[in-house]
Amino acid sequence: MLKKISAALAGGLLLASTLAGCGDDGGGSGSSGDDKITLGFAQVGAESGWRTANTKSIQESAAAEGIELKFNDGQGKQENQIKAIRSFITQRVDVIAFSPVVESGWDPVLKEAKDAGIPVILTDRAVDSKDTSLYKTFLGSDFVEEGKKAGEWLVKEYEGKSDPVNIVELQGTPGAAPAIDRKEGFEEVIKADPKFKIVASQTGKFERTGGKQTMETMLQSVKDIDVLYAHNDDMGLGAIEAIEAAGKKPGQDIKIITVDAVKDGMTALSEGKINYIVECSPLLGPQLMDLVKKVNNKEEVPTRILTEETTFTPEQAKEALPNRKY
Ligand code: AHR
Repeated sequence: MLKKISAALAGGLLLASTLAGCGDDGGGSGSSGDDKITLGFAQVGAESGWRTANTKSIQESAAAEGIELKFNDGQGKQENQIKAIRSFITQRVDVIAFSPVVESGWDPVLKEAKDAGIPVILTDRAVDSKDTSLYKTFLGSDFVEEGKKAGEWLVKEYEGKSDPVNIVELQGTPGAAPAIDRKEGFEEVIKADPKFKIVASQTGKFERTGGKQTMETMLQSVKDIDVLYAHNDDMGLGAIEAIEAAGKKPGQDIKIITVDAVKDGMTALSEGKINYIVECSPLLGPQLMDLVKKVNNKEEVPTRILTEETTFTPEQAKEALPNRKY
């Protein structure tokens, strides 16, 4: 509380307006007016099954931990996320967490949060800010590693064969960390063998409809497609619709690798329509709430917390599906 008021005064704000922003008792916990921690969370949007599961995990974990959650859906726009973060600062929440839709352009708003004395946690996606003092920690996957795992499966699958392998790539949202990193990791692994050629690479914006539309265009413009590498399940599932509509068999005529391992993706994998999935876990809620409590208590936290993940073949998908939570 004292820290927040001094920070607000240092920032040139009037005490009266600070207290007004804190709710009925002027207490330090956002607008809740009690000892509850208030967390402002700026979500990317609802572009994929992964995102829906991630939102659910955050909402359920906040409720389970008695943390008051102010949730904002940025609808895939950075400007909306920046507005939401500014509003959390004005409301004087205790902690801000967010999943940045793109990597760049966050420094000014993160500086505002820092000046207001509100700790920030990055979840799921990173920012490319050079000033790491602008956030306390980053909880999420290693997307470069995910791309590498996708490439490693492909290299093994075509081991001992010398014919060219034409790959089309469905990229995620332009400028988003998982789109940049999954591309980088995949290319790093396949570049060792010149038979692998990425013949087309376009965005499907991590959405099912985006994946379908982009795949339709690729099917018309690229003659022989051997492999589709989709940066997430949803785009892969949309592409499967386009492939089937073009009279081809997904998983056979065109081999498909995706990332995420949500239920719909795992079902397609178990049916042989997808050949391999690299897992990216959306269940970040419990770890996030633990971090929120720690940074609110001014405890030290590691600057990077990696999510544990695996990979799935069709057989492994069949085994895992009955217990898959999302
Ligand atoms: O940032 C995680 C990625 O974002 C997931 O792989 C994708 O499905 C989501 O939209």
